[in-house]
Amino acid sequence: MQAIAVVPHTKTIQRIEHTEPRILRPQQVKLRILDVGVCGTDKEICQSGFGTPPDGDDYLILGHEALAEVVEIGTAVQHLAPGDLVVPVVRRPCPHDECVACRAGRQDFCQTDDYTERGIKSMHGYMTEFVVDEERYLNFVPPNLRSVGVLVEPLTIAEKAIAEMQVIQQRLPWRNQLDPELPGKGLKALVLGSGPIGILGAMRLQVAGFETYVYSRSLTPNPKADIVKSIGATYISTQEMTVEQLVKRFGTYDLIYEALGAGPVIFEIIQALGPNGICILTGVPEPIGPTSINTARLIHQLVMHNQVFCGTVNANPVVFASAIQHLGIFVQRWPQAVQALITRHPIGNFEQVMLGKVGGIKNVLAFKQI
Ligand code: BGC
Repeated sequence: MQAIAVVPHTKTIQRIEHTEPRILRPQQVKLRILDVGVCGTDKEICQSGFGTPPDGDDYLILGHEALAEVVEIGTAVQHLAPGDLVVPVVRRPCPHDECVACRAGRQDFCQTDDYTERGIKSMHGYMTEFVVDEERYLNFVPPNLRSVGVLVEPLTIAEKAIAEMQVIQQRLPWRNQLDPELPGKGLKALVLGSGPIGILGAMRLQVAGFETYVYSRSLTPNPKADIVKSIGATYISTQEMTVEQLVKRFGTYDLIYEALGAGPVIFEIIQALGPNGICILTGVPEPIGPTSINTARLIHQLVMHNQVFCGTVNANPVVFASAIQHLGIFVQRWPQAVQALITRHPIGNFEQVMLGKVGGIKNVLAFKQI
C-alpha cells in the first residue's frame, strides 16, 4: 500500500510502498485512513529532521492527526465495529515500571521521555491507506462529525490546556462556586495566535463562557479574523495594538492561552496577565540564540500576583472524549466557522502541503473523498 514518509537525515518527503498491516492480536482494530491533518510539528519533522523513524526503518510515515474508519476488528474488541469512525491518540506509554504516569495511562505526563508518538517519535504515522492499532488507543467519533473529525486531535491540545487551567485554578476557592458548565463566566481570556490551535482554543473558551480575545499578527480584515468574529470573540492584530495599548483598552486577562510557538515574545505579553492569572503555553518555538528579558520584573509580577506559568503537551483519552463532545457543540453553534477551518487536498499534493506551501488554516490530506 502507499504511504507518505520522510527520510529524516536527507529531509526528503516521498511516496513509498509499505506493507499493508494485518490484525495480529485479538485487541487490535484495522483502520482505513480517511483524513490526516498537517500541523507545525509535521513541517518541523520535514524541514529540520525532528522526527524519529521506528527501530530498523530509515523512514518515518508522517501524520498524527487522523480520522479513520474501522474496517476489521480482532476477536477481543468490545466497543467498536466495522464502519465506526475513530480518532487515535498520538502518544503511547514508555516501558518503564517507575514511570507512574505511563503506568496510570497518563503518558501525556510521561516522566522518562521514552514514550513513542505516532508519526513523530519511533512509530509510523497515519499518512497511509491502512493501519492496525489497539482498541484502547482509539476514540469513537459520531458519524455526524465525518467532515470535521480531523480537528479532534488539534482540539485536544486546547482541551487539555483548559482542563489543566481548571484544575490549577481550584486554588481560588470562590471560583468553585461558579457554574461548572461555564467555568469562564465573568472571566477574560487572551488567545495568542490564530492558527488551528489558537482558533479551536478560542472556540473552546467561548463554550466555557470566557470573554475571549484573539491577539495575532495579521492585519484585519483577514479570514481568520472573520472566523474569530463569527464565534463572538474579538480579534486584535499585534500590528494594530501594542501589549500596553491592549491592557489600557481592555484591562488584564485571567487566562493567557499561548498557541504561537513564538518564544520570548511571551515574556512581553505576560504583562497582560491579571492577578491570580494563569498563562498556559502550548507552542514549541524554533531554537534561537539567547535573548534578554527583565527577569526581576517577571519574577516580581509572578510572585506579587500569585500567577502561574504552565506548559502543556499531548492529551489523554479523557481529554479526547471531551474534545469530541465539544467539537459536536462547535458544529451546532458555528457550522460555517468550523468548516472554514479545513482545506482538503488530494494526496498527490503532499509535498506542497507538508512544506507549508499552501494557504488554508488546517490543511488536510484526504485519503478518501467525502
Ligand atoms: C502533537 C502532540 C505531540 C506533540 C509533541 C504535537 O503536534 O499534537 O500530540 O505530543 O506534537 O511531539
